[in-house]
Amino acid sequence: MGIAILDTDKEIVSILAELIAETGESPCPFTSKDKFLEVIDPKSHSIAIISDEFVDVVEGTKQVYDSIEIIGIGTADGSACLKAGAAHYLKKPFRAEEIVRVIGALSAPKTGTGKENGSPFVVADPAMGRIVDIIRKVAPTQAPVLIMGESGTGKEVIARNIHALSKRRSGPYVGINLAAIPETLLESELFGYEKGAFTGAYATRVGRFEQADGGTILLDEVTEIGSGLQAKLLRVLQERQIDRVGGKTPIKVDFRVISTTNRDIEEEIRAGRFRNDLFYRLNVIPVKVPPLRERREDILPLAAHFITKIAAREGMQEKVLSAGAKDALLKYHWPGNVREMENVIERAMILNEGETISSEHVVAGNTASADSGAVPPTGTTIHDMEKSLIFSTLRKVEGNRTRAATLLGISIRTLRNKLNEYSRGGQISDDESVVANGPDPEES
Ligand SMILES: Nc1ncnc2c1ncn2[C@@H]1O[C@H](COP(=O)(O)OP(=O)(O)OP(=O)(O)O)[C@@H](O)[C@H]1O
Ligand SMILES: [Mg+2]
Repeated sequence: MGIAILDTDKEIVSILAELIAETGESPCPFTSKDKFLEVIDPKSHSIAIISDEFVDVVEGTKQVYDSIEIIGIGTADGSACLKAGAAHYLKKPFRAEEIVRVIGALSAPKTGTGKENGSPFVVADPAMGRIVDIIRKVAPTQAPVLIMGESGTGKEVIARNIHALSKRRSGPYVGINLAAIPETLLESELFGYEKGAFTGAYATRVGRFEQADGGTILLDEVTEIGSGLQAKLLRVLQERQIDRVGGKTPIKVDFRVISTTNRDIEEEIRAGRFRNDLFYRLNVIPVKVPPLRERREDILPLAAHFITKIAAREGMQEKVLSAGAKDALLKYHWPGNVREMENVIERAMILNEGETISSEHVVAGNTASADSGAVPPTGTTIHDMEKSLIFSTLRKVEGNRTRAATLLGISIRTLRNKLNEYSRGGQISDDESVVANGPDPEES
């Protein structure tokens, strides 16, 4: 993907272009705003470096092409650029390493934005080998894929890999977590809106489907949308065109859809919460990812992978797993699957000074196993148990609702509804309200 540069200072533009070329990315230099606006396109640019002479361009680019990350540069304090939507601001004169580091950080893969290479995918167990075979076969086709599996089993990693192995790999990969966005905002998030469509729609904004034109759209937790949006989504999948909110004519979009769910989708259909016809559209190729406890041969290779990954990230020595630690990892039932294992290894790597990870490092502090066995006193209601479990989980993850919902095995929406219910009923103490109302860094 290219990196666009806009600055009236020709010298700065050419230095930046050289630096970018050295990192292996392709620079697209501009000294004129009009040229920049003519060419900028999320299909060819993942990052734009824009001088703060052009705060209006920063704002406009971010509004229209949300997936392009913007680095502001200039001699001011940067607040205007950051307010307009820049992800970073570098004050001139900055050092070459600084801009290279910022570009590296912005191009690191993360949920929701395009990155053409796949994520590392560790597979050793025969149960996963079969899934890899399916992925290889379906990736080059246009067929919709529905990935089902418990929370933390690697559904998103699989979706990225399907995109990376597909003919669309040089196109965008756009993800949207349908459980994390309030229902009222979902339609304009998915399909975009026209300027003036509603109060606050100051500029036209393209939705995720349009951003995914020529590439892949991941509908994460697809079972979480309401019936109105299910009907709209079905139409989009049938007609391959979208209607922006407030738009007059439909827009053709070329996308491949991958969706995920951690629910029993057939149960959702039986209960009347999910449309059968939408299910058939999404489920052309079903991929059922087994929980980690049903593919134990993956456990040690995954642990080794996370040790290497965390050591590299933290610039520390890799640690060795003792025989006892391996045994404990193999015996544990992993309710939070691969994500839980990653957390366990991360904790063991960071909190323990020695060179060896022993069994108490992987078992102690592993909340699920340490807490199981505690029996609540007779007379405790299910409602009280549920509430106390929700708050103890929220405390352990420092109020991060996305992670709490994952550990609890419920959707973010369900968690949010429960918290609202407690709060409406005046059932939240001051101490609880701190974890219940904190900002959630992953919710977007
Ligand atoms: N086979 C794998 N190899 C390497 N890393 C993996 C593998 N499976 C999962 N991971 C890692 O585990 C974490 C959880 O994976 P992922 O986000 O794909 O799970 P998920 O099934 O989408 O979970 P959720 O339902 O909660 O969204 C990620 O950090 C991911 O990189
Ligand atoms: Mg996921």
